[in-house]
Amino acid sequence: MFKKRHVLTMREFSRDEIDSVIELASSLEPYARGKKSSMLEGKILALLFFEPSTRTRMSFETAMKRLGGSTINLGSAEASSVAKGESLADTIRVIGGYADAIVIRHPKEGSARLASEFSPVPVLNAGDGAGHHPTQTLLDLYTIKKESNLDDLSIALVGDLKYGRTVHSLAYALSLYGADISLVSPPALRMPEAIKADLSSKGTHVYETSDLTEVIEQIDVLYMTRIQRERFPDPLEYQKVARSYRLTPEFLAEAKKTLIVMHPLPRVDEITPAVDSTPNARYFHQSFYGVPIRMALLKLLMGGDND
Ligand code: NCD
Repeated sequence: MFKKRHVLTMREFSRDEIDSVIELASSLEPYARGKKSSMLEGKILALLFFEPSTRTRMSFETAMKRLGGSTINLGSAEASSVAKGESLADTIRVIGGYADAIVIRHPKEGSARLASEFSPVPVLNAGDGAGHHPTQTLLDLYTIKKESNLDDLSIALVGDLKYGRTVHSLAYALSLYGADISLVSPPALRMPEAIKADLSSKGTHVYETSDLTEVIEQIDVLYMTRIQRERFPDPLEYQKVARSYRLTPEFLAEAKKTLIVMHPLPRVDEITPAVDSTPNARYFHQSFYGVPIRMALLKLLMGGDND
């Protein structure tokens, strides 16, 4: 079902497929925690990051190595032939001859899809500009399943819903699970109309507001995001919305006891460090879950038939 296919957006996933990735990730958790494995021995994963990354890059690398495979790295664009003017298409054709799969993060929307058109091996989109971030969504769903409940979920997506690719992918995937979604953002950073249209076509109940206090009492998951400074055409526009939300333990007192707080990270100042020690914080668990989820994807895309 998964072999040799690209992972570009959540639109390519059915709910059954997502559930099967989650189930596999759960069975691979012991390996994510250090149990030895040679499932991907002899396989090579190429990492092409044209934008900064800590978690996504390093959890892909960890996932591959923990399964016995290895990684090759483009390094910085400046250190590669991209700096000589090589096109993305040529870069991908060449690297596709070295590796068994390619992970790409790039500032331009649609770049992972373009890469997939030239790649002889599976391409995994690790973020294309303000577009999509499907592997983050899979780990987000995994976190919700492990730490809360994916059924009958009420969730608030908070912060930069315009430029944030994690929330674009996540909102779509949540619509497959019948979640109630509150979209909480400054008016200038609302969720794009196209994604809202997708949500309503799936019958998803969506509520839009700029005021988190309106929904804090009823939600099960609070998904905070960073205002995506690097995507603003005008730095003054960024300054106007920079400190729109700031989650504190006092604010969480209004929420359900069982509420979990998530964040794809990195955070800037939207969650104060004091929240880290509350029983609600799950964002560091979430970043760990990137390892088993990416292990599951890599195994599905590259693993042998009998594994
Ligand atoms: C996110 C991203 O790169 O879109 N980070 C991540 O992959 N964990 C979120 C962000 O940068 O704000």
